[in-house]
Amino acid sequence: MLITGAGGEIGHGLIARLAGGNNRRIVTLDVSPLDASIAPQVDREITGSILDKAILERVLAEFEIDLVFHLAALLSTRSEFTPVTAHHVNVEGTLNLLEFAQHEAESHGRPVVFMYPSSIAAYGMPDLDTKARAGRVKEDEWTHPTTMYGCNKLYCEQLGTYYARHYKQLAAEPAKGRVDFRCVRFPGLISALTVPSGGTSDYAPEMIHAAAKGEPYACFVRPDTRIPFMAMPDGVDALMALAAAPRDALTRTAYNVAAFNPSAEEIRDVVVTAFPGARVTWDNDLKRQGIVDSWPADVDDSAARRDWGFAPRYDFRRAFTEYLIPTIRKRYAAA
Ligand code: SER
Repeated sequence: MLITGAGGEIGHGLIARLAGGNNRRIVTLDVSPLDASIAPQVDREITGSILDKAILERVLAEFEIDLVFHLAALLSTRSEFTPVTAHHVNVEGTLNLLEFAQHEAESHGRPVVFMYPSSIAAYGMPDLDTKARAGRVKEDEWTHPTTMYGCNKLYCEQLGTYYARHYKQLAAEPAKGRVDFRCVRFPGLISALTVPSGGTSDYAPEMIHAAAKGEPYACFVRPDTRIPFMAMPDGVDALMALAAAPRDALTRTAYNVAAFNPSAEEIRDVVVTAFPGARVTWDNDLKRQGIVDSWPADVDDSAARRDWGFAPRYDFRRAFTEYLIPTIRKRYAAA
């Protein structure tokens, strides 16, 4: 398998999980060298950009890849600062990987499963009243993203669907030689192992990790801000489960997945209880607030539950008591 953006948040979680029982060879592609916590788990680490076609041609010549986790992307806040670069990486990079997957599929005569993490950023709620009224949003509702990142994600969902359909129609043997594109629309992900960089749901993980380190944290959104979140192990499980699902069971390309959706104040309360002495203040960044306000307060994931058995292990309480707090404590104690 090939994992792009392997050194990022999801990559860390995915590689850590694969290390616990995986008989496939792992090839990674990331712009930075992998850190020591995951590098030993990888069979072949390539440092380079998804925009470098020569690298992808080399991987094509050297490996038989039948599963791609295309995780490389610039996240939402970062993309607003450099929208043109974001478009290059998020859209042209994905196009390069889809072409790569198509060529792998053709040369080996079997489908390549292409896993793509999309995002709640693919949605765009016009205002807070509508957001409150909309409640749990279905995949085909409110898909009017306001950010460059959200536009990129929504478009690449379509692009993946195009590759899947286009080659299904053209290939003489429809089951062979094509890209089997599958996509999860993730909520904000919270990992005990890493903090994200450049996202807008980052206030939750940043608050938790700062408290664990005994550092003060100024939260950049209002206390009443509410979007869906998920603990990283459930996010990784979702990717693995969707990748393994029988093709015939899938009724759509992009699936919502949900776990819990606390307000920023509810997160603060749990953090302060878990780490007494944690200092959390509120320092609203209007631009980032506008981004999270445009994301739904919750999503309807009934299609994922029905089609491929999605069922998160961690609700809000368990995510903190059984995963985040013990794992983060151990991590910083060891450091
Ligand atoms: N967590 C991402 C971000 O904040 C959204 O997918 O950009």
